[in-house]
Amino acid sequence: MNNFVLCGFMGCGKSTVGRELAKLLGYSFVDMDTYIEDKANLTVSEIFEKYGENYFRNLETEVANELSQKSNLVIGSGGGAVLKENNVDAFRNGGKIIFIDVPLKVIENRLKGDTTRPLLATGKFETMRKLYSERIATYNQVCDIKITNDDNKDAKLVAEEIIKFIK
Ligand code: S3P
Repeated sequence: MNNFVLCGFMGCGKSTVGRELAKLLGYSFVDMDTYIEDKANLTVSEIFEKYGENYFRNLETEVANELSQKSNLVIGSGGGAVLKENNVDAFRNGGKIIFIDVPLKVIENRLKGDTTRPLLATGKFETMRKLYSERIATYNQVCDIKITNDDNKDAKLVAEEIIKFIK
């Protein structure tokens, strides 16, 4: 398989960069959260609220496996998707994992006032910082390619940079 899975913290640009990357490659873009929402006929927040995080994580694994069987996809994974080894195995079988590394400060600014992400629902920067510091090592560890965007570069430029790495 020849897919590219974008991973990284919430707000790092997995979907915006993913769409640009898919255009450049002539691939289709699939956002995992949107795919899950369509499958469940509920928003991610509603899934967390009604059934809890574990239920969401199981759906996420189902979708990771399903999408990894396909090819010519750029997949925008959810920020927690690569924390599960099974998902990483599926992604690796399906292609390469690309980590979009964006500093916490930039992410904090981007996600200020966001109401769509249940894990950040407290609105507290502390919560975000804790999750970020718990996860950053995993993102670094699971990726085949790492792209740093520490100056808020446009998604298209980030996608072009990725292309340079993968060509
Ligand atoms: C999550 C990230 C979200 C979504 C869910 C859980 C996480 O996706 O999957 O709210 O655990 O980091 P984005 O990274 O696209 O915001």
